[in-house]
Amino acid sequence: MSMPMFPAFVFSNDPDRPERGVREIGMDSIASDGVLIEVEWSSVNYKDGLASTLSGKVARLSPLVPGVDLAGRIVESGDGFEAGDLVIAHGYDIGTSRHGGFARFARVPSEWIVRLPHGLTTREAMVIGTGGFTAALSVIALQKWGIRPDDGPVLVTGATGGVGSMAVSMLSGLGYDVTASSGKPEAADYLRGLGASRILDRSVLSDDDGRPLQSMEFNGAVDCVGGSTLANLIKKLKYGSAVAASGLTGGAGLSTTVIPFILRGVALLGIDSVQTPMDVRVETWRRIATDLKPAGLEDIGHSIGLQELDGVLTSILEGGVTGRYVVSPSAHG
Ligand SMILES: NC(=O)c1ccc[n+]([C@@H]2O[C@H](COP(=O)([O-])OP(=O)(O)OC[C@H]3O[C@@H](n4cnc5c(N)ncnc54)[C@H](OP(=O)(O)O)[C@@H]3O)[C@@H](O)[C@H]2O)c1
Repeated sequence: MSMPMFPAFVFSNDPDRPERGVREIGMDSIASDGVLIEVEWSSVNYKDGLASTLSGKVARLSPLVPGVDLAGRIVESGDGFEAGDLVIAHGYDIGTSRHGGFARFARVPSEWIVRLPHGLTTREAMVIGTGGFTAALSVIALQKWGIRPDDGPVLVTGATGGVGSMAVSMLSGLGYDVTASSGKPEAADYLRGLGASRILDRSVLSDDDGRPLQSMEFNGAVDCVGGSTLANLIKKLKYGSAVAASGLTGGAGLSTTVIPFILRGVALLGIDSVQTPMDVRVETWRRIATDLKPAGLEDIGHSIGLQELDGVLTSILEGGVTGRYVVSPSAHG
């Protein structure tokens, strides 16, 4: 009996047989364990860019179907799911050590699967995706720290990117006064549309003046840039406030002093979306579908097929992406 074939974007880091592009694969090419999901939408994250390049050091399988995000329909009943159930899966080993969302079908362990919450379509869930989930974890961390909308302006860095766009939209939706830091002056209207009241040029935060403290400006921050940007924004945090740090597009290093921590009591809150425990995952998606649901999802999301992935994966590593690219693995297949 012939094996049904389906389209997939495949990356191989084998130096003798490098591969990066779309081809037809069979069911036997994806995992043999796990729940079979027909992927309706995936999305493009910075990590997918890393997983699709030799230097990224993220791919743990070769060849690999990348795609850390996926949303779709359960194909076969079992493991607590019924055929036709709509689900989301992201993080864990998906798209790094296990084939991910850039194919029409994926197999995912049942304990990594979240039911699509009421109030979201599969496309909306992927416009949000890992970037939006990380933004939500960051916003919730600031709320738990006690930062309230009336306490003063909050900062979002890397604001036009996935995590950044979502954080701007979620925070402004909750009534926070949001300052957006971006390296893309042409995106000012986009950021104001998401709810930013003020735009800061990225260089303001990335240039270090060598002082351990600066005047207190922000009552909280969502940072996905890291490096000197994070080091500088810590100096501008108000007494008792916090930054939720999730990313490294500006560098993995962090050169700081303890002065902001011990003189202003500010907190550095680490954010991880990959190993987030399932109960937190389910509750976070419930909030994303309700009070954190970002406005403007239509403007933030751009739909592409597998054939367009190559260019977008290159662009995201160069900091060139505005908003979130969602991938329909069956389109253009
Ligand atoms: N901890 C976690 O679980 C987790 C989850 C998701 C993402 N992340 C990390 O968060 C970061 C953002 O991910 P993403 O998918 O949102 O990527 P993205 O869409 O590319 O967004 C990143 C943004 O950072 C800014 N940027 C890029 N290069 C920069 C540079 N050299 N210096 C300063 N800013 C720069 C750009 O925004 P502007 O042009 O507007 O400045 C860019 O759009 C990545 O490092 C990713 O690995 C971590």
